[in-house]
Amino acid sequence: MADAVLRFEDREINLPVIEGSENEVGLDISRLAAETGLFTLDRGFGNTAESQSQVSFIDGAAGILRYRGYPIEQLAEHASFLEVAYLLLYGSLPTKSALASFEDSVTRHTLLREDMKKLFEAFPHEAHPMQILASATSALATYYPDALDPRNPEAVDLSMHRLLAKVPTMIAWLYKYRAHQPYMYPRNDLDYSANFLHMVFSIPAEPYTPDPVVAAALNVLLILHADHGQNCSATAVRLVGSGDANLFSSVSAGIHALSGPLHGGANQEVLDMLEEMAAGEGDVSSYIARAKDRNDPFRLMGFGHRIYKNFDPRARIIKQAATDVLAKLRIDDPLLDIAQELEATALSDDYFIERKLYPNVDFYSGIIYRALGFPTDMFTVLFALGRLPGWMAQWKELKEDPKTRIYRPQQVYSGETERAYQPPS
Ligand code: CMC
Repeated sequence: MADAVLRFEDREINLPVIEGSENEVGLDISRLAAETGLFTLDRGFGNTAESQSQVSFIDGAAGILRYRGYPIEQLAEHASFLEVAYLLLYGSLPTKSALASFEDSVTRHTLLREDMKKLFEAFPHEAHPMQILASATSALATYYPDALDPRNPEAVDLSMHRLLAKVPTMIAWLYKYRAHQPYMYPRNDLDYSANFLHMVFSIPAEPYTPDPVVAAALNVLLILHADHGQNCSATAVRLVGSGDANLFSSVSAGIHALSGPLHGGANQEVLDMLEEMAAGEGDVSSYIARAKDRNDPFRLMGFGHRIYKNFDPRARIIKQAATDVLAKLRIDDPLLDIAQELEATALSDDYFIERKLYPNVDFYSGIIYRALGFPTDMFTVLFALGRLPGWMAQWKELKEDPKTRIYRPQQVYSGETERAYQPPS
């Protein structure tokens, strides 16, 4: 394709056209500042790609999400979370033997160092799980300094396997600490989801068998959250990684980014909102009215997305899974009915139709997490566990790309021009 031409004052600037493998077309402005002194302003990066990525593809208008080319619907139906993690990290689905050795390697690292318990215990019991998880993830770098070099592929592999293995144990232990219960050690005879449920929900005094319906639902939820292109937290991971920080520090930054209510923190907010509705603090229409009111900062949580201007395909799968899981577990949750009424009301309202605001991944996920027995403030750490392979795949891609440069955006300086210092008068 011929270059695009930008006209500015009396200059014509050629901008190479760049095409993605799904026929996406962009203008490459990488040399703009160096060659012309001009730069671009793009609030929230809505128009800017920093990298060429092969991890996941999203068509927001058509409601399509694929990991490494595989439709999310197929992966959610057929794959295990570790299989998807392998796919994201290494680019192709594993053979049986590759999957077995990957599972074996991850399973061997599930224990935490005993002295890490003191780290959890340094937090107040009421600390938010996302804050503890981010700190504990960052702290892992101090326990495993042997594999921090971001340019050593064996060290990166070891750190990735350690993170996949230890984050579930850290989440379970922070849960136990907050619940004043004994820590439960991992059981390596169980699969990833079942072992996680065991560490969270079992107690030493009684036998515990993870419910296969619950484990299967968790497996699907983890897969649906596993990657989502250059979202806020993946960008945070890449940004920190671009300065050559180690994987643990970079992932910790991603956890912090995810904690915000406009991002992963929305799943907790959705449940709080549905509970308020159930408690009778306003009917569905009054919440819709508030969401539409420009003078009210309230937003309908779990609705809207920067990229999806159609149904978020993950929300579609989760909605069906919520109905199935509740039926299988024989749970009649009034919040599911309220959520469905809210969705139907919003989708027939001009405000939401004009702005193409549809339910996103966070809208129904909380209803399942609740049915599986997790308290509301644990929802976002479950999102983080699911997103972990995606963050690491994005970080690995960044480190392996010879074109990577440290992330260092321009700014439009709009402060004071030069002025002389005056001593205090
Ligand atoms: N409720 C009411 N109005 C909304 C909502 C909402 N949830 N989302 C967007 N809008 C309106 C917004 O006020 C704006 O209206 P106008 O054009 O009149 O000013 C228009 O829609 C476009 O919104 P925007 O803020 O420019 O869109 P954005 O791409 O910057 O923000 C978003 C995307 C996800 C932050 C936003 O839709 C939102 O705040 N949603 C609620 C929080 C949420 O559910 N977050 C989870 C996102 S999906 C999973 C994840 O990333 O973790």
